[in-house]
This record gives sequence, C-alpha cells and structure tokens, in this order.
Amino acid sequence: MKTVLLTGATGHVGTALLPRLLAGGDTRVLALVRARDETHLAERRRVLAERAGVDEGLELVAGDVSAPGLGLSTRDRGRVLAEVDAVMHSAASVRFDMTQDEAAASNLAATQQVLALCRDLADAGRLDRYDHVSTCYIAGDRRGTVYEHEIDVGQGFRNKYEWSKCQAELAVRDATQAGLPVCVHRPSIVVGDSRTGATRSFNVLYWPLKLYARGLWRTFPGRVDTPVDLVPVDWLADAMVALHRDDASIGATVHLAQGPAAPTVQVLMDAVQAQIDGPPLRVVDQGRYRRFVRPLLWPFFQTKRGAAVKRGGDAYLPYFTGNPVFDATTRDELLPQLPPPDPLEVLRVIVDFAMRRDFGGR
Ligand SMILES: NC(=O)c1ccc[n+]([C@@H]2O[C@H](COP(=O)([O-])OP(=O)(O)OC[C@H]3O[C@@H](n4cnc5c(N)ncnc54)[C@H](OP(=O)(O)O)[C@@H]3O)[C@@H](O)[C@H]2O)c1
Repeated sequence: MKTVLLTGATGHVGTALLPRLLAGGDTRVLALVRARDETHLAERRRVLAERAGVDEGLELVAGDVSAPGLGLSTRDRGRVLAEVDAVMHSAASVRFDMTQDEAAASNLAATQQVLALCRDLADAGRLDRYDHVSTCYIAGDRRGTVYEHEIDVGQGFRNKYEWSKCQAELAVRDATQAGLPVCVHRPSIVVGDSRTGATRSFNVLYWPLKLYARGLWRTFPGRVDTPVDLVPVDWLADAMVALHRDDASIGATVHLAQGPAAPTVQVLMDAVQAQIDGPPLRVVDQGRYRRFVRPLLWPFFQTKRGAAVKRGGDAYLPYFTGNPVFDATTRDELLPQLPPPDPLEVLRVIVDFAMRRDFGGR
C-alpha cells in the first residue's frame, strides 16, 4: 500500500483526483487541508468523502501550504515523514486579482514548502515521486506555439496568478535538476465533467457564457481567431493519475490540454449561440471596444452588478483576446490511450449543466 500526500483535495481538480487515486485499492491518500481544529477536520473529511464518492483509504491531516512547515503539527509532520511515499501538490489560489504578495505566498512560497518536504522525504529514502500541478498559462502573454520544455522565455504575465505559477515551476525545475523525481502537470482551462457537466467552479470560460446567457452582453472585446483550450475535469484527473502511476513520466512536463485541437473563439461562439438559440454575438477588437463600446457601458459599470461584470471582464477577457497553442507532444507520447475529449462536445455538456444550475446562482 502506497501513501500519497495530496494538497488541494477539496478543490475542483483535487476532488476529481481522489476517487481515481484510491480506485486501485493499492493507494491511501493523506489529504492536507486547512482546518481550525479536530472537529472542523472531521467535518471537512465527511463533506469531501461525500463529494468525491470515496471512503476507505482517505485520511485528512490539518495544514496550510503557505505556512512554514506546511502548518503541520510536530506529530503530523512525523507521521508524514514516516508514511508518505509520494506527494501531489494541487493546492493553489487561482484568483486572477491577487496582489503580487498574495500570489507569492499562496503559490510560490507554498510550492517551496512542498519541495522542502519532498527533499526531507527523499533524504529519508522515501520519495517515489512528486507530482506538481502547474498550468499551461505560465506561458503568460506568449503567442504561437508553446512547448512543454519551456518555462521562462522572458514572457509577460496577464495577472499575478500566472506569474506566481511560473515562479513556482522555476523552483520545481531547480529541485528536479538537483535530483527530485518530479512530473509537472500543466492543465489548460479546466471545465466541468465531460459526461454530466458537473462543476462547482463557474469561472474563466463560464464568465462570458453567463453574461451572454443572461442577455447582459452581446458584444465583447476579443479576437475571433484566438484558440481557447479547455479540458474537462474528469479527463484531466484520469490523465494525471495515469501519469502518476507511470514511472516514465518522471522528469516530464506535460501539457494536459487540447493542444492544436483547441477551438477558436469564433467556433466556440457559433456553437454556444446555436445551442442557446440566442441572438448574434459580436466580437470587436480591444481598441474599438475601448473607444466605442466601453463608454456606453460606463454608467452600468458604476452599479454594483456592473462593477462585478467589469471585474470579471478585467480578469477573464484576456483569455479570449490572445492565447498560444500548447504543443502536446509529451502528452501524446505518455498518454497515447487517453486523448482529450472533443472540446465542442464537452462545451455542449457544460453549457447545458451551467444553464440548468444558473451558473451557480451568482
Ligand atoms: N481550474 C483551472 O482552470 C486550472 C487550470 C490550470 C491549472 N490549474 C491548477 O490546478 C490546481 C487545482 O486548481 P483547482 O481548480 O482545483 O482550484 P480550486 O478549486 O480553487 O481549489 C484550490 C484548492 O487549494 C486549496 N488551498 C488553497 N490554499 C491553501 C492553503 N493555503 N493551504 C491548504 N490548501 C489550500 C483549497 O482548499 P480550501 O478548500 O481550504 O479552500 C482547495 O482545495 C491549482 O494548482 C491550479 O493552479 C487549475
């Protein structure tokens, strides 16, 4: 029986990872989660087990990835060092409006803490592997094709989230070069389940969908030829666990993305418009939007609802204005049996779910 220390188990991705890690019956998961006290920890275990549809093999330990020593008590740290064989770090703050200090604490310092633990486990001869969850969007404002071996090529970043995840990957690369057995997983935009559409996380792609579905926005700034790379959370978790179980993935960085199959903004818009049977959607370039459309919206942006729409726009619209294509050669080599599902079919299912759930009601 192997024991995996998993961070971020309660998140969108982590909850999908859990049943897959436990499925073989040969793995135990020790999930590091934030908890005020033992009662809160027990409650978090109950909720998580129910959401993930698991029971046996799941144990929780209280911690905080951005605290020194991962916030583990002395007793729990001893237990981790004695029992853990592999570490999977999925916890992060995925907010796009973080300050640099917040992003550095949540994503860079946290990864450094996890790497320190991995080094201690490796020194004790215990560490089989470290699976690091990064993001394709460490590519920042790059265009063209981005390769899996590339990290910092001097790109700019659209927000501190991207910056902090890139800094974290650089720290992971240093640790890999120093001998840690690492696999870096880079998901693109993660959406709901490909069969049910289910998600609790209605951000990024869901944001313009919501505005359009609610009739709030029919003209938005972007570029129709921009590729938008989306993957469903169930496929992502299948792929991550397949990599986790394959020693050939040690040393690899993998774009868990559609890659060249990513649809463009235009293709996505046409599909959504046809599905919702809504009015025509128009995309205008940023310059024309700023000059002609935004001034008309200014009074709306002064209202509470309008201010929320503006905040969402500032955060998410860059992802519809320009993106690179994520080369997925390593994904193809390591996961030939697991190509990502058709993005337009995924889109149909997630739009259906989101509409039925009114985009989480917010
Ligand atoms: N979602 C996407 O589209 C996407 C795309 C590419 C890459 N990724 C990466 O995938 C990973 C998982 O993202 P997600 O979508 O699952 O995010 P999420 O739903 O927001 O979940 C974040 C998880 O991290 C935990 N966490 C945050 N700060 C923590 C701390 N200080 N100590 C302990 N746990 C902490 C949260 O715990 P609580 O329950 O206590 O809040 C939660 O379990 C991240 O590394 C993210 O960068 C996500």
